[in-house]
Amino acid sequence: MGGDRMNIARTVMQRIDALAKISEDPNCLTRTFCSPAMRRANALVASWMREAGMIVRTDTIGNLIGHYPCKAESRNQKSKVLLFGSHLDTVRNAGKFDGPLGVFIAIACVQQLHETKTRLPFAIEVTGFADEEGVRYQSAYLGSRVLARTFDLKDLKRVDADGISMAKAIRGFGGNPRALASAKLDPKRLLGYVEVHIEQGPVLEKKNLSVGVVTAIAGQTRLCITFTGRAGHAGTTPMNLRRDALCAAAEFVLEVERFARGRPAAETGLVATVGQISALPDTSNVIPGEVVVSLDIRHAKDSVRERGVAALRKRAVQIGRRRNIKVSIGLVQQSASVSCDRNLSNLLAKSIRRYQKEAPLLASGAGHDAVAMAVITAVAMLFVRCKGGISHHPDESVRLQDVRMAVSVTTDLIQRLASEFS
Ligand code: GLV
Ligand code: MN
Ligand code: MN
Repeated sequence: MGGDRMNIARTVMQRIDALAKISEDPNCLTRTFCSPAMRRANALVASWMREAGMIVRTDTIGNLIGHYPCKAESRNQKSKVLLFGSHLDTVRNAGKFDGPLGVFIAIACVQQLHETKTRLPFAIEVTGFADEEGVRYQSAYLGSRVLARTFDLKDLKRVDADGISMAKAIRGFGGNPRALASAKLDPKRLLGYVEVHIEQGPVLEKKNLSVGVVTAIAGQTRLCITFTGRAGHAGTTPMNLRRDALCAAAEFVLEVERFARGRPAAETGLVATVGQISALPDTSNVIPGEVVVSLDIRHAKDSVRERGVAALRKRAVQIGRRRNIKVSIGLVQQSASVSCDRNLSNLLAKSIRRYQKEAPLLASGAGHDAVAMAVITAVAMLFVRCKGGISHHPDESVRLQDVRMAVSVTTDLIQRLASEFS
């Protein structure tokens, strides 16, 4: 596997920039599940996969999958497969590296194999997942859950902000909700899943290192909390007769912050966020009658997260009771923390140490497609330093030399796996 890694890294950066131009919002980068922007993104990424010698398909939920055949692959032979991937969807007003970086580094590695006419004893599959962020349907990992056979068919009934059901969105994208089961992967064929991703935190920058190995991915719980009071006239309803749902929600939002900040030492690291709020009737001269807020709670230890969820549920109810506001709480989604595979991660650490003085171990507070893939195969993740630890923000930034390092490390990992395999 030769080639000038700096040029390869430059190509990855150019592709990051090109993909970032594909957005459903002309003012910022937003690309959600099954959107027209996602269709254009898939077409562009498919052309790069083909250039890298891959056979490309889009599965029934919209995952884009590039297959690089192995040495002895024929129609009848079920070869082993090494999976790479990350997501091509984004949050609203996103940065350009979260997701695509991992897809493009994997494609770059395959392109080196293709250009040197190298076939491995196993096939490589690179997946650009259709939905990891869960922006459109408030349900993350849709793409990877289909491949891992953990997709919940009830999710097909979810509706987006325009009332379009997930089933309809999938059909509109050219997929078939009834055939979701056919997209699943056969675990027996899998050697593992490797995801390269920006760190989205400050640890590597503080250590002045380009890359690190992920040990585990924090579990997360997302709730939807509805505060129901009574709408009324803002000019005529006396303050002591109001049942203002927004005031109750506001008190809860601050309580969430106070709670997470005040955790004892054993629970340090718990993070809790209210990121979404909607107030009805959303009119300046009407007392808000109904307010819905989201709550996202995470911790590396599931027991700490679960205790936090229970405590915050209780606080929401207490606030409601005191203010004569009805509170109802729905579970939107939940995933337990996931440990990365020790063998695959050790191999990744060896690859890192070939190029970097140490292979730091990091925990991920962000969720990744690796969470879903861990149900069917061993997973490992390579984190790449990002400027100021900033992510889910247009200022997300990654250095060219760190991309080069990630390409070198990933290439080395593939070589190590190939020599272990034969
Ligand atoms: C995904 O980026 C998440 O961690 O919310
Ligand atoms: Mn993200
Ligand atoms: Mn991501």
